[in-house]
Amino acid sequence: MSPVKSKIPKGDRPFLDRLLDEVRYRLTTVEEIDIAGKSIPRYVGEFWTSQQRQALSLHEISYRACFKPQLPRFFIEHLSNEGDTVYDPFSGRGTTALEAGLLNRNIIANDANPLSTPLCKPRFFPPVLADLMERLDQIPIRENAEADIDLSMVYHPRTESEIVSLKEYFDERRGRSEEDHLDRWIQMVATNRLAGHSKGFFSFSPLPPHQAVSAASQRKITLKAQQEPEHRDTRVIIFKKSKTLLSGVSPVDRQNLQQTGTQARFLTCDARETKAISSGTVQLTVTSPPFLDAVDYVEENWLRCWFNNLDPAEAAKAIPISRSLDEWSAVMFGVFRELYRVTKPRGFVAFEVGEARNKEIKLDEHVVPLGVKAGFSCVAIIKNQNFSNFTATKQKHEDSGFTQDVIVIFRK
Ligand SMILES: C[S@@+](CC[C@H](N)C(=O)[O-])C[C@H]1O[C@@H](n2cnc3c(N)ncnc32)[C@H](O)[C@@H]1O
Repeated sequence: MSPVKSKIPKGDRPFLDRLLDEVRYRLTTVEEIDIAGKSIPRYVGEFWTSQQRQALSLHEISYRACFKPQLPRFFIEHLSNEGDTVYDPFSGRGTTALEAGLLNRNIIANDANPLSTPLCKPRFFPPVLADLMERLDQIPIRENAEADIDLSMVYHPRTESEIVSLKEYFDERRGRSEEDHLDRWIQMVATNRLAGHSKGFFSFSPLPPHQAVSAASQRKITLKAQQEPEHRDTRVIIFKKSKTLLSGVSPVDRQNLQQTGTQARFLTCDARETKAISSGTVQLTVTSPPFLDAVDYVEENWLRCWFNNLDPAEAAKAIPISRSLDEWSAVMFGVFRELYRVTKPRGFVAFEVGEARNKEIKLDEHVVPLGVKAGFSCVAIIKNQNFSNFTATKQKHEDSGFTQDVIVIFRK
């Protein structure tokens, strides 16, 4: 028999009761696991699903290893109140930040990758489509404009000319400090459309949508695909993608996002050293760290960085690549120490770890001692299984070892 849910209104109960009430109500199994001499409950069940609450289309900016919006929402709703500060030290495309904004929390988003802010911040200021169309029409497009790097393996010359014109326009606006929310929105959508598999992207050649591969690999892919360059109308593509992103954004969402976005703080620090965040100020951190699979940010982000005038080498310097579990644990311990400093007394950290590489490495069991050594208590491990979304793709994920979300919950 399922436990009965408490009748006390959610906002009046202690945070941990709110969370565990919900978890126990929905759980399939619970096991006590022993980690470093401590017994910790590991709850397994379907606590949130992708169908449960349709996530807002505004999230649909692809980013490597991003999580589903339902995950941060679940923890933000149960472990924080309106006005509390919610933080993500590995913010990526900003899934936690956006959900926190929609739920009226204060936001701090940090990521060592300098692309993170330009991909996240503009979505706090969603434009009106008519204004967007007008601005797109105003951006001057030069004929035969050529990029200062070789893009012939990615774009038709006319598309390249349009992209270069867009880039020049953004650089000029920024140089004259005239850049506004509309410019930043267009730049974000264009960055998202630079590379992809379909006609909805600027590239004629197939490129992974979430992350460009290295220039050298791209040359090989293009040669192999033997594809004829094809012009893509960048303005039409930007407008169409904007329409999709904005569908479902209600007037209340706009109001909440604008309000929280104006106060939100976007940082580009190493998560181990975030001096800009005052001690004891964060109620809740919801995050998913880089995993053991090394990502070479210099090689992979060349196209997005070029378009945004960012130096990928700077990003690479700030992002240590951990090739072994020991290296990874050392970096994460540094992160936990910093999280302990910034977290409010009795505040929480929800740390998503998944199952890395193969099922033999259970990162949750490695993460618990790191958080505890930094000063936190580990209160639970939550494994979310999404049965209603069980598809062939899920099966494939199961085979490759990424079946479910595993989140370790710490309290200060
Ligand atoms: C798994 S992704 C997070 C994705 C995010 N949850 C989302 O939904 O978009 C991990 C992120 O950690 C960032 N990162 C890696 N090492 C870092 C460090 N030492 N400090 C700050 N950010 C780092 C990477 O740039 C990457 O964006």
